[in-house]
Amino acid sequence: MNWTAPCARGTADLAAAECRGLGLRVTGERLDGVAFEGDLPDAARALVHLRVPSRLLLDLAWFDARDADALYEGVARVAWEQWLDPHATFAVFASGDLTDGLRTHVFVALRTKDAIADRLTRHYGRRPDVSREDPAVRIVLRGRQGRWHLGLDAAHPPLHERGFRAAQTEAPLKETLAASIAMAAGWRTSDGPLLDPMCGSGTLLIEAINLALGIAPGCTRRFSCERWPHHGARFRTLLDGERSRAVEHARRTVERPPALRVEASDLDPVAVAAARKNLAAAGLLRLVALSTADARTRPLPANSTLLSNPPYGERLGGEDVVALYRELGTAWPRGDRLHAWVLDGNELFAAAFGHEPASTRPLRNGRLAVNLREYRF
Ligand SMILES: C[S@@+](CC[C@H](N)C(=O)[O-])C[C@H]1O[C@@H](n2cnc3c(N)ncnc32)[C@H](O)[C@@H]1O
Repeated sequence: MNWTAPCARGTADLAAAECRGLGLRVTGERLDGVAFEGDLPDAARALVHLRVPSRLLLDLAWFDARDADALYEGVARVAWEQWLDPHATFAVFASGDLTDGLRTHVFVALRTKDAIADRLTRHYGRRPDVSREDPAVRIVLRGRQGRWHLGLDAAHPPLHERGFRAAQTEAPLKETLAASIAMAAGWRTSDGPLLDPMCGSGTLLIEAINLALGIAPGCTRRFSCERWPHHGARFRTLLDGERSRAVEHARRTVERPPALRVEASDLDPVAVAAARKNLAAAGLLRLVALSTADARTRPLPANSTLLSNPPYGERLGGEDVVALYRELGTAWPRGDRLHAWVLDGNELFAAAFGHEPASTRPLRNGRLAVNLREYRF
């Protein structure tokens, strides 16, 4: 079986590295995802342990189609009876590039649904039901310049929903992006303190701690593939095994953690309260010293790794946010051997902060082009 793990642009190398780390056979690395080969046990391992990808798709077909007939034929060639039966509801979700002959995603999804339903009706003698709200099987069709990738979505809700976000602040990072930042920074508990002085709801911290302690992101959640007609029961058994091993590891690790020092703060007490809730829900609260403090004046523990996602400026207004960047550029170099990783989503950041980054990784935060910048002070 072939699988695709889509991820945000700029993170495919990180996703490929973690796939290899899980012992998966990576067969391709594209701009927006990683492909690997494996059976259901490999997919179950990927679902519970992968941190960077947003989804996991079972590849069913790649085909060229620029009009409705070619689309219908490409879809109808797939042996849908191996994946669906008339008792399981399904829905089709189309996205990506359209063509002159395939002008809307709604039309592409409808035509695909017809091709699938017709083939299943011929096979089973009964037309299957469609449910867009709560389908048992989610079929994903992604277009790129007239070529279509057809797959089954094994990981709904998307993988950034780890299952422990209890509170939200105004601009939380997606867990998958936060994990990418943590992975790029590569903090280990033996490296010295970890610090997020603008922690918001705590996403970066949670992902960085879980990565360092080997706590699996998917250890308490369920996955859409557990409802697939022919393979759901086997998937559930495999996932239950992965989950219970991962939960047991998490429990033992949090009970007796290695020596580690993690500090987090935010100027906004509401954000600190949200971080407290989320850290508690993730079982990590007692590992973190959390406080309300100004990132410009708070002490910086020696030899720390600083991960931070300063405000982009929507709320603070242009002038104020540039002044903040300038002041951070004065405060942070005063730290003793500080290794800072800053997710910068404002084109004015780099100049105002005023230091030469050791590295820059272009990323996307939703639709926004952002940069992960590394500084050594
Ligand atoms: C983009 S948000 C961080 C989001 C966070 N990474 C998350 O996932 O929830 C920026 C945070 O910086 C905080 N902030 C703004 N100015 C600050 C300052 N001078 N000191 C500390 N925190 C500040 C805001 O309150 C906000 O929570």
